[in-house]
Amino acid sequence: MLANTDTRYGLIARLFHWVIALLILTDLALGLIGENTPRTADTAEFLKTLYSVHKTIGVSVLFLAVLRILWALTQPRPVPVHPARRAETLLAEVIHWALYGAIIVMPLSGWVLHSAESGFAPILWPFGQNLPFVVKSETLAQTAGAVHGLSALVIYLTVGLHIAGALKHAVFERDGVLARMLQGRDAGTPGQRATTPHAVPPLVAIVLWAGVIGFAVFGPKPPMPEAEAAQMPTSAPVATAAVPTSDLPAWTVQEGSLGITVMQMGAGVEGRFATWSAAIAYDPGAGTGEVSVTIDTTSLTLGSVTAQAQGPEFFNTATYASATFAGPITRTGAGPDHQVAGMLTLVGQTVPVTLDFTLDLAGDTATMAGQATLDRRDFGMGAGYADESTVGYSVTVDVSLTATRAP
Ligand code: HEM
Ligand code: HEM
Repeated sequence: MLANTDTRYGLIARLFHWVIALLILTDLALGLIGENTPRTADTAEFLKTLYSVHKTIGVSVLFLAVLRILWALTQPRPVPVHPARRAETLLAEVIHWALYGAIIVMPLSGWVLHSAESGFAPILWPFGQNLPFVVKSETLAQTAGAVHGLSALVIYLTVGLHIAGALKHAVFERDGVLARMLQGRDAGTPGQRATTPHAVPPLVAIVLWAGVIGFAVFGPKPPMPEAEAAQMPTSAPVATAAVPTSDLPAWTVQEGSLGITVMQMGAGVEGRFATWSAAIAYDPGAGTGEVSVTIDTTSLTLGSVTAQAQGPEFFNTATYASATFAGPITRTGAGPDHQVAGMLTLVGQTVPVTLDFTLDLAGDTATMAGQATLDRRDFGMGAGYADESTVGYSVTVDVSLTATRAP
């Protein structure tokens, strides 16, 4: 029998129940394993596969859950087997409704998290990766991650109680409650509903989920890493550097930004250094000059992988808290009309790097924008990531700034 009756779950309801139960339990296990696996070069491939499988199972749950709920709406819900035990029946029903909420909130929050963050383990299907209307945003990813993490706690509790209840009925009471869901047997007396009003269990579940989402969205946030807090004003203050020992006119940086783009799992992840300083000497007449830049590497933020980027395998900021770039400026005349053929010292390695830039002069104000491309292998960065499948070799550096000629 496909449909439910007053005393029995039909085949379709049972199939939905067990398929979704299996997928949810698998995804909980994968999520837990993922959360407890250290993020290193050795585990990167494993984690990518694990999260891809986790996400693919999760989005499948979401679609099955929608179909399940639509189906349940057309069906009678079997009566409680022990309607006289009011508290127990109420608890069981609240948990059933909470679990219906879980099969929507859990995968949806995961999918919003996936869509909002950059650099990802893809969902293994051909139907696109991102939810429409979800923008790439670090803040949104954090909030969705908080909903996802808190919901996981609610699921541990509710699924735990639910399974314990099912086992209690099967092992101690042997009253046919589990057999009703497993084999589709009849249990309970037709027409004997619980005396609690129908609306109470779903309302309690709705309040529970609203509370979880509300707390994750509006509740206390984990303290922002220092680097990110420093980045808050959009045009980050740039410390003034010592003027180079040159006779050429000096220029003082008024504002600017220093960003990098790294390819992570095939997607560009953008980051920036909040604190850096540049000492510039430049003679507009001759088109020559020199520049010296000091970068506070601890001020780097790089999406959701900031900690990893600052860690020992990459920028190793604990040991190398600053990087420097210095070299002569020449006017090239073509395309990007200027160039710095400089030396970049990063994590203790000094490598020649060319920065091509365009320069616009308006009176005593100069605006420049330029780009350089580095190869992380030149600096021994990410040695454990031997190929480009997880972290690309080339890193693009984007600089733009406005400077005024010192009087
Ligand atoms: C059946 C639905 C799902 C369940 C039960 C589930 C469960 C979990 C659990 C238990 C964790 C570990 C969380 C923690 O301990 O803080 C986790 C993490 C994660 N899940 Fe899911 N998940 C589901 C669906 C999804 C979906 C559909 C996606 C994306 C499309 C997703 C993406 C993620 C990501 C990216 C993490 C890592 C979060 C982080 O490290 O901040 N999940 N999930
Ligand atoms: C080994 C694991 C599980 C066991 C033994 C189990 C057992 C049961 C049983 C016996 C019922 C019927 C209760 C009754 O007739 O009053 C039931 C209902 C239900 N279960 Fe599970 N379950 C398990 C896992 C899950 C999981 C992971 C979910 C999460 C989505 C879930 C969601 C539900 C829901 C929503 C109902 C109510 C169905 C309805 O009345 O429409 N179950 N379960």
